[in-house]
Amino acid sequence: MRNINTDNITQVVLSSFDRHPDARQRQLIQGLVEHLHAYVKEVKLTHPEWRAALAFLHRVGDISSDSRSEFSLLSDVTGISSLVDLLGSDPQATPGSVLGPFHTVGSPWFDNPAQLKGHNEGVTMVLRGRVVDLHGNPLSHATVDFWQNAANGMYWQMDPSQPSDNLRCQMKVDANGCFDIVTLQPVPYQIPTDGPVWHDLVHPSERSSWRPAHFHLIVSAPACKTLVTELFDEQDPYLQSDAVFGVREPLVGHCETLSDSATLRALRLSAPCLQIKFEICLAAA
Ligand code: BEZ
Ligand code: FE
Repeated sequence: MRNINTDNITQVVLSSFDRHPDARQRQLIQGLVEHLHAYVKEVKLTHPEWRAALAFLHRVGDISSDSRSEFSLLSDVTGISSLVDLLGSDPQATPGSVLGPFHTVGSPWFDNPAQLKGHNEGVTMVLRGRVVDLHGNPLSHATVDFWQNAANGMYWQMDPSQPSDNLRCQMKVDANGCFDIVTLQPVPYQIPTDGPVWHDLVHPSERSSWRPAHFHLIVSAPACKTLVTELFDEQDPYLQSDAVFGVREPLVGHCETLSDSATLRALRLSAPCLQIKFEICLAAA
Protein backbone atom coordinates (compact mmCIF):
# COMPACT_ATOMS: atom_id res chain seq x y z
CA MET A 1 0.00 0.00 0.00
CA ARG A 2 1.61 3.25 -1.16
CA ASN A 3 -0.90 5.70 0.17
CA ILE A 4 -1.34 5.14 3.88
CA ASN A 5 -3.65 7.67 5.52
CA THR A 6 -5.69 8.00 8.70
CA ASP A 7 -8.70 6.39 7.01
CA ASN A 8 -7.01 3.22 5.79
CA ILE A 9 -4.09 2.66 8.19
CA THR A 10 -6.03 0.54 10.72
CA GLN A 11 -7.33 -1.84 8.06
CA VAL A 12 -3.93 -2.12 6.40
CA VAL A 13 -2.23 -2.98 9.70
CA LEU A 14 -4.99 -5.46 10.62
CA SER A 15 -4.62 -7.26 7.28
CA SER A 16 -0.87 -7.46 7.78
CA PHE A 17 -1.53 -10.00 10.57
CA ASP A 18 -4.03 -12.07 8.54
CA ARG A 19 -1.58 -14.87 7.87
CA HIS A 20 -0.62 -15.44 11.52
CA PRO A 21 -1.01 -19.23 11.82
CA ASP A 22 -2.58 -19.25 15.30
CA ALA A 23 -6.21 -18.10 15.20
CA ARG A 24 -6.35 -17.01 18.85
CA GLN A 25 -3.05 -15.12 18.67
CA ARG A 26 -4.33 -13.46 15.50
CA GLN A 27 -7.51 -12.39 17.29
CA LEU A 28 -5.53 -11.02 20.25
CA ILE A 29 -3.10 -8.95 18.18
CA GLN A 30 -5.70 -7.68 15.72
CA GLY A 31 -8.08 -6.75 18.55
CA LEU A 32 -5.25 -4.88 20.28
CA VAL A 33 -4.33 -2.97 17.12
CA GLU A 34 -7.94 -2.08 16.45
CA HIS A 35 -8.52 -0.74 19.97
CA LEU A 36 -5.19 1.07 20.19
CA HIS A 37 -5.78 2.79 16.85
CA ALA A 38 -9.26 3.83 17.96
CA TYR A 39 -7.78 5.16 21.21
CA VAL A 40 -5.05 7.14 19.45
CA LYS A 41 -7.68 8.70 17.18
CA GLU A 42 -10.12 9.41 19.99
CA VAL A 43 -7.64 11.20 22.26
CA LYS A 44 -5.70 12.67 19.29
CA LEU A 45 -2.43 11.41 20.74
CA THR A 46 0.48 13.76 20.07
CA HIS A 47 4.10 12.88 19.37
CA PRO A 48 5.42 14.15 22.74
CA GLU A 49 2.69 12.23 24.55
CA TRP A 50 3.53 9.01 22.71
CA ARG A 51 7.25 9.43 23.38
CA ALA A 52 6.48 10.05 27.08
CA ALA A 53 4.36 6.88 27.17
CA LEU A 54 7.18 4.83 25.61
CA ALA A 55 9.70 6.33 28.05
CA PHE A 56 7.36 5.34 30.91
CA LEU A 57 7.19 1.75 29.64
CA HIS A 58 10.97 1.79 29.32
CA ARG A 59 11.27 2.75 33.00
CA VAL A 60 8.77 0.03 33.94
CA GLY A 61 11.07 -2.46 32.18
CA ASP A 62 14.24 -1.00 33.69
CA ILE A 63 13.13 -1.50 37.29
CA SER A 64 11.78 -5.01 36.67
CA SER A 65 13.90 -8.05 37.50
CA ASP A 66 13.47 -11.77 38.21
CA SER A 67 12.14 -10.89 41.67
CA ARG A 68 10.11 -7.81 40.77
CA SER A 69 7.70 -7.21 37.93
CA GLU A 70 6.66 -3.60 37.56
CA PHE A 71 4.62 -4.76 34.53
CA SER A 72 2.49 -6.96 36.82
CA LEU A 73 2.01 -3.96 39.09
CA LEU A 74 0.97 -1.89 36.08
CA SER A 75 -1.57 -4.57 35.20
CA ASP A 76 -2.79 -4.64 38.83
CA VAL A 77 -3.23 -0.88 39.33
CA THR A 78 -5.01 -0.46 36.00
CA GLY A 79 -7.49 -3.19 37.00
CA ILE A 80 -6.48 -5.46 34.09
CA SER A 81 -5.42 -8.29 36.44
CA SER A 82 -8.74 -8.07 38.26
CA LEU A 83 -10.74 -7.88 35.04
CA VAL A 84 -9.04 -11.03 33.75
CA ASP A 85 -9.75 -12.73 37.11
CA LEU A 86 -13.41 -11.70 36.97
CA LEU A 87 -13.88 -12.83 33.36
CA GLY A 88 -12.35 -16.19 34.26
CA SER A 89 -14.60 -16.69 37.29
CA ASP A 90 -17.73 -18.81 37.17
CA PRO A 91 -20.56 -16.60 38.53
CA GLN A 92 -21.75 -19.40 40.86
CA ALA A 93 -18.30 -20.27 42.17
CA THR A 94 -16.05 -18.32 44.53
CA PRO A 95 -14.63 -15.40 42.55
CA GLY A 96 -10.96 -15.20 41.69
CA SER A 97 -8.73 -12.38 42.87
CA VAL A 98 -5.26 -10.98 42.30
CA LEU A 99 -2.35 -13.46 42.42
CA GLY A 100 0.07 -10.66 43.28
CA PRO A 101 3.85 -10.84 43.03
CA PHE A 102 4.58 -12.95 46.11
CA HIS A 103 3.44 -16.40 45.06
CA THR A 104 6.27 -18.79 44.41
CA VAL A 105 5.78 -22.38 43.38
CA GLY A 106 6.92 -25.20 45.63
CA SER A 107 5.71 -24.15 49.09
CA PRO A 108 6.41 -26.80 51.77
CA TRP A 109 3.64 -29.36 52.39
CA PHE A 110 2.02 -29.21 55.83
CA ASP A 111 -0.34 -31.60 57.62
CA ASN A 112 -3.92 -30.48 58.26
CA PRO A 113 -4.30 -28.48 60.53
CA ALA A 114 -1.30 -26.51 59.33
CA GLN A 115 0.71 -24.75 62.01
CA LEU A 116 2.19 -21.63 60.43
CA LYS A 117 2.24 -19.20 63.34
CA GLY A 118 5.40 -20.63 64.95
CA HIS A 119 7.49 -17.79 66.39
CA ASN A 120 5.88 -15.08 64.28
CA GLU A 121 4.75 -12.02 66.17
CA GLY A 122 1.13 -11.03 65.69
CA VAL A 123 -2.40 -11.96 66.61
CA THR A 124 -3.14 -15.67 66.27
CA MET A 125 -5.85 -16.34 63.73
CA VAL A 126 -7.17 -19.63 62.38
CA LEU A 127 -8.36 -19.80 58.81
CA ARG A 128 -11.07 -22.45 58.83
CA GLY A 129 -11.77 -23.39 55.22
CA ARG A 130 -14.06 -25.78 53.41
CA VAL A 131 -13.84 -26.63 49.71
CA VAL A 132 -17.04 -27.61 47.89
CA ASP A 133 -18.30 -28.02 44.34
CA LEU A 134 -21.13 -26.04 42.72
CA HIS A 135 -23.70 -28.35 44.39
CA GLY A 136 -22.21 -27.87 47.86
CA ASN A 137 -20.60 -31.33 47.94
CA PRO A 138 -17.25 -31.42 49.76
CA LEU A 139 -14.21 -31.82 47.53
CA SER A 140 -12.19 -34.27 49.60
CA HIS A 141 -9.25 -34.37 47.15
CA ALA A 142 -8.71 -30.62 47.02
CA THR A 143 -5.34 -29.05 47.75
CA VAL A 144 -4.65 -25.57 49.06
CA ASP A 145 -1.64 -23.37 48.40
CA PHE A 146 -1.58 -20.55 50.96
CA TRP A 147 0.60 -17.47 51.59
CA GLN A 148 0.35 -14.22 53.53
CA ASN A 149 2.43 -11.38 54.96
CA ALA A 150 3.95 -11.10 58.44
CA ALA A 151 3.05 -8.63 61.20
CA ASN A 152 5.49 -6.07 59.72
CA GLY A 153 3.53 -6.16 56.44
CA MET A 154 6.23 -7.98 54.51
CA TYR A 155 6.25 -11.30 52.70
CA TRP A 156 9.24 -13.53 53.44
CA GLN A 157 10.82 -12.85 50.03
CA MET A 158 11.14 -9.12 50.86
CA ASP A 159 12.38 -9.50 54.40
CA PRO A 160 15.73 -11.08 55.33
CA SER A 161 14.64 -11.23 58.99
CA GLN A 162 12.05 -13.90 58.16
CA PRO A 163 13.01 -17.56 57.62
CA SER A 164 12.57 -18.86 54.05
CA ASP A 165 9.06 -20.06 53.31
CA ASN A 166 7.66 -18.21 56.33
CA LEU A 167 3.84 -18.08 56.38
CA ARG A 168 3.23 -20.17 53.32
CA CYS A 169 2.27 -23.80 52.80
CA GLN A 170 0.53 -26.37 50.67
CA MET A 171 -1.86 -28.83 52.25
CA LYS A 172 -4.59 -31.36 51.52
CA VAL A 173 -8.13 -30.98 52.83
CA ASP A 174 -9.79 -33.72 54.92
CA ALA A 175 -12.60 -36.09 53.86
CA ASN A 176 -15.14 -33.29 54.43
CA GLY A 177 -13.23 -30.81 52.28
CA CYS A 178 -12.13 -28.95 55.42
CA PHE A 179 -8.78 -27.44 56.26
CA ASP A 180 -7.49 -25.32 59.13
CA ILE A 181 -4.47 -23.04 59.08
CA VAL A 182 -3.24 -21.76 62.43
CA THR A 183 -1.54 -18.55 61.46
CA LEU A 184 -1.59 -14.85 62.26
CA GLN A 185 -3.89 -12.06 61.33
CA PRO A 186 -2.54 -10.53 58.12
CA VAL A 187 -1.99 -6.77 58.06
CA PRO A 188 -2.67 -4.15 55.38
CA TYR A 189 0.16 -3.80 52.91
CA GLN A 190 1.38 -1.07 50.53
CA ILE A 191 2.09 -1.69 46.88
CA PRO A 192 5.67 -0.73 45.91
CA THR A 193 6.05 3.06 45.92
CA ASP A 194 9.60 3.30 44.57
CA GLY A 195 8.86 2.75 40.88
CA PRO A 196 7.33 4.51 37.88
CA VAL A 197 3.91 2.91 38.36
CA TRP A 198 3.54 4.63 41.71
CA HIS A 199 5.35 7.88 40.82
CA ASP A 200 3.86 8.52 37.39
CA LEU A 201 0.46 6.91 37.58
CA VAL A 202 -1.00 6.08 40.99
CA HIS A 203 0.35 8.85 43.21
CA PRO A 204 -0.52 11.78 40.88
CA SER A 205 -4.10 10.47 40.83
CA GLU A 206 -4.20 10.80 44.63
CA ARG A 207 -4.90 7.10 44.92
CA SER A 208 -4.10 5.00 47.95
CA SER A 209 -1.06 2.73 47.99
CA TRP A 210 -2.73 0.35 50.46
CA ARG A 211 -4.14 -3.10 50.01
CA PRO A 212 -6.52 -4.38 52.70
CA ALA A 213 -5.06 -7.25 54.73
CA HIS A 214 -5.61 -10.59 53.03
CA PHE A 215 -4.79 -14.27 52.83
CA HIS A 216 -3.86 -15.61 49.39
CA LEU A 217 -5.08 -19.04 48.31
CA ILE A 218 -4.81 -21.21 45.24
CA VAL A 219 -7.32 -24.04 45.53
CA SER A 220 -7.29 -27.01 43.13
CA ALA A 221 -9.26 -30.24 42.93
CA PRO A 222 -9.56 -32.97 40.29
CA ALA A 223 -12.03 -32.07 37.50
CA CYS A 224 -12.39 -28.53 38.87
CA LYS A 225 -11.16 -25.18 37.70
CA THR A 226 -8.22 -24.06 39.82
CA LEU A 227 -9.08 -20.93 41.78
CA VAL A 228 -6.62 -18.15 42.60
CA THR A 229 -8.24 -15.98 45.22
CA GLU A 230 -7.91 -13.93 48.40
CA LEU A 231 -9.78 -13.63 51.70
CA PHE A 232 -10.31 -10.27 53.41
CA ASP A 233 -11.61 -9.24 56.86
CA GLU A 234 -14.84 -7.20 56.93
CA GLN A 235 -13.29 -4.84 59.54
CA ASP A 236 -10.42 -3.79 57.31
CA PRO A 237 -10.22 -0.02 56.73
CA TYR A 238 -8.97 -0.40 53.14
CA LEU A 239 -11.72 -2.61 51.71
CA GLN A 240 -13.19 0.32 49.76
CA SER A 241 -9.90 1.48 48.30
CA ASP A 242 -7.79 -1.58 47.46
CA ALA A 243 -4.96 -0.26 45.25
CA VAL A 244 -5.34 -3.28 42.93
CA PHE A 245 -9.15 -3.75 42.91
CA GLY A 246 -9.08 -7.27 44.40
CA VAL A 247 -12.02 -7.08 46.82
CA ARG A 248 -15.27 -8.92 45.98
CA GLU A 249 -18.13 -9.32 48.44
CA PRO A 250 -17.93 -13.17 48.71
CA LEU A 251 -14.25 -12.81 49.64
CA VAL A 252 -14.93 -10.63 52.69
CA GLY A 253 -15.08 -12.78 55.81
CA HIS A 254 -16.26 -12.24 59.35
CA CYS A 255 -13.56 -12.47 61.98
CA GLU A 256 -14.68 -13.79 65.38
CA THR A 257 -13.31 -15.23 68.61
CA LEU A 258 -12.57 -18.95 68.72
CA SER A 259 -13.00 -20.09 72.31
CA ASP A 260 -14.43 -23.61 72.08
CA SER A 261 -12.01 -25.67 74.15
CA ALA A 262 -12.31 -28.91 72.13
CA THR A 263 -11.57 -27.03 68.90
CA LEU A 264 -8.69 -25.15 70.53
CA ARG A 265 -7.25 -28.47 71.73
CA ALA A 266 -7.60 -30.06 68.29
CA LEU A 267 -5.74 -27.09 66.84
CA ARG A 268 -3.07 -27.33 69.58
CA LEU A 269 -3.93 -23.85 70.86
CA SER A 270 -3.74 -22.99 74.54
CA ALA A 271 -5.77 -19.76 74.53
CA PRO A 272 -8.76 -18.28 72.68
CA CYS A 273 -7.82 -16.58 69.43
CA LEU A 274 -9.42 -15.25 66.25
CA GLN A 275 -10.95 -17.36 63.53
CA ILE A 276 -12.26 -16.62 60.07
CA LYS A 277 -14.32 -19.14 58.11
CA PHE A 278 -14.22 -19.38 54.34
CA GLU A 279 -16.27 -21.69 52.10
CA ILE A 280 -14.58 -22.03 48.72
CA CYS A 281 -16.73 -23.21 45.85
CA LEU A 282 -14.91 -24.50 42.78
CA ALA A 283 -16.44 -24.60 39.31
CA ALA A 284 -16.22 -27.74 37.17
CA ALA A 285 -13.24 -27.74 34.79
C1 BEZ B 1 -0.16 -8.49 47.11
O1 BEZ B 1 -1.21 -9.04 47.25
O2 BEZ B 1 0.71 -8.74 47.90
C2 BEZ B 1 0.06 -7.52 45.97
C3 BEZ B 1 -0.80 -7.56 44.90
C4 BEZ B 1 -0.60 -6.67 43.86
C5 BEZ B 1 0.47 -5.78 43.90
C6 BEZ B 1 1.31 -5.76 44.99
C7 BEZ B 1 1.11 -6.65 46.04
FE1 FE C 1 -0.73 -10.08 49.02
